[in-house]
Amino acid sequence: MTEPDWLRLNRANWDERVGVHLGPRGYDLVDLRQGRGRMNAIEEAELGSVAGLDVVHLQCHFGRDSLCLAQRGAASVVGLDFSPPAIEAARALAAELGLADRTRFVLSNLYDARAAIDAPASFDLAYVTWGALCWLPDVAEWARIVAHFLRPGGSLYLAEAHPAALVFDDLVPGTDGRPGWFVPYRHDGPLTIDEVRDFMDPEARLTNSRTHQFMHPIGDVIGALLGAGLRLEWFHEHDAITWRMFACQTKGTDGLYRWPDKPWLPLAYSLRARKD
Ligand SMILES: C[S@@+](CC[C@H](N)C(=O)[O-])C[C@H]1O[C@@H](n2cnc3c(N)ncnc32)[C@H](O)[C@@H]1O
Repeated sequence: MTEPDWLRLNRANWDERVGVHLGPRGYDLVDLRQGRGRMNAIEEAELGSVAGLDVVHLQCHFGRDSLCLAQRGAASVVGLDFSPPAIEAARALAAELGLADRTRFVLSNLYDARAAIDAPASFDLAYVTWGALCWLPDVAEWARIVAHFLRPGGSLYLAEAHPAALVFDDLVPGTDGRPGWFVPYRHDGPLTIDEVRDFMDPEARLTNSRTHQFMHPIGDVIGALLGAGLRLEWFHEHDAITWRMFACQTKGTDGLYRWPDKPWLPLAYSLRARKD
């Protein structure tokens, strides 16, 4: 069966980014390699203890956070991603860090996760963060997959870019160095984006630059989780985000990026949704 464009283009883009993110201006892995990996300030403040939990990390990239969760005492972590070099790098890093016995990395499109990880209702925590949902065309099906993997009592932790901020992008220059209006909040269908730059490495230029991304308004995400039978425990909006989303942003001492003057609109949101 031929793959849809969104899947083919997006995977080529992410395959290429793995090398960039493992390169000299990529992710900082020093703490992880010293056995004390840390997440970003937002997750650090909200996530709570993961000791003894069975965790499924969807769209795990090369496993930095998956391995961090294992270092924090998770009983087991299964990471899933559709990028072969990402999964290969995750497995190598797990072996290097002595965490291969408690972690497993699975190569699969998110929408095939039920078959790829044959473990329904087996996880205490589904962990999904930062730039995951924008790659997925169907948020209702994503929520059903999350619910499928959770045990009764288990929960989803989601931290994401706020769609109110994703309305803007530097690809359309605004005034005073700010990003301009880019896409309506409620944009249906794929948004074709041609962006050669990478959000981590300012010097990188991507060859596989064309992607299809998707806007998911907050109401759709929460509606999808409720529709999948999960209960919303809390929902937070943040005036900071974990990467430089716009060139005009300033970086705080907490490592988070904010609007340069006033917190005009939220940049991120996070939530916990539980399966009863
Ligand atoms: C921005 S990254 C997530 C970053 C991750 N939270 C981290 O901190 O490392 C998005 C990830 O989603 C993965 N991805 C995108 N579309 C996917 C799909 N349809 N199925 C599985 N993984 C996908 C990409 O390969 C990439 O690793």
